Amino acid sequence: MNKIPILMDCDPGHDDAIAIILALSSEKLNVLGITTACGNQTIEKTTKNAQGICEFLGRRDVPVAQGRKAPLLTPVYTAGIAHGESGLDGPQLPEPAVPLQEESAVVFMARKLEESGEPVTLVPTGPLTNIAVLLLCYPHLIQKIDRIVLMGGSVVSGCSGRGASEFNIMVDPYAADIVFTSGIPIVMMGLDVTNFTTIGFDEKEKFRRAGRVGALVADLADYFGRGFEMVGWCGVPVHDACTIAYLIDPTLFTMREMNVRIDLSGEFTMGSTVGDSYGVEGREANALVGLASDRERFVELLLGAGAGAEKGAGRNEQNSGLN
Ligand code: RIB
Ligand code: CA
Repeated sequence: MNKIPILMDCDPGHDDAIAIILALSSEKLNVLGITTACGNQTIEKTTKNAQGICEFLGRRDVPVAQGRKAPLLTPVYTAGIAHGESGLDGPQLPEPAVPLQEESAVVFMARKLEESGEPVTLVPTGPLTNIAVLLLCYPHLIQKIDRIVLMGGSVVSGCSGRGASEFNIMVDPYAADIVFTSGIPIVMMGLDVTNFTTIGFDEKEKFRRAGRVGALVADLADYFGRGFEMVGWCGVPVHDACTIAYLIDPTLFTMREMNVRIDLSGEFTMGSTVGDSYGVEGREANALVGLASDRERFVELLLGAGAGAEKGAGRNEQNSGLN
């Protein structure tokens, strides 16, 4: 079976970490590398966290490259309130044993696109800063990008940023505008679907009993779920893992094509994603937007990931991680 080649760009972040676990456990995906964004925490912290997850999984073969330390034009805005001072508070991860890639995230992504014999899917689950710079600096490589499957925005409900905007888009709205106007096919997993794609608080014990990786997912859900439990949610939204789950099994989601634009001027809506859900404005659709999910089957997929990722554990002895 031909695996889908992907590059993950993330800001771990508890839900980013679960997305990495799911991606690295899947037989359907070939993770060419992980790059890091400044979002949930500073770039140094999100980078260390990405390395720590790979080390925990026994995956020193997965190269990690550090991204830009700030959004294009807006100030750094982190989410320690949700992810803690380290960006991944709660579980204890091992110190990474392999060094970072020497290249920056953008140069690393460009090289991987150049080297790939087939178009690559980009999977950003943090602010889109690195992706925007990649598109601006290497326009000739746009043809090597198959799709951008991102977590961000919301066209119908909710926000996790300020005002009406979702965090990833709000942190770097100008980068998001570059991505959404690039002409590259976008799959947008926004809060409309990710807020309802949850690990139930009563389901965490299933993960705790599913080996060391399952137990890590439970620990991640424990910490990330604190705030949601306090305000009466019945589960932990695993926002970022929806991107990977979509690539593994698109039937898990109900999607709708529409034109999505980024508001860059609203006093209260700056960074919001404005979706023309019913095509009334006559603009060309640029995104396939997630609207609903089969939550139970999503949880089953995650549970299987724990077992799948166990297989990778112990590879550390064989790989240096630089490639
Ligand atoms: O709004 C949810 C998004 O913001 C997720 O990617 C989470 O990790 C945070 O980055
Ligand atoms: Ca994220």
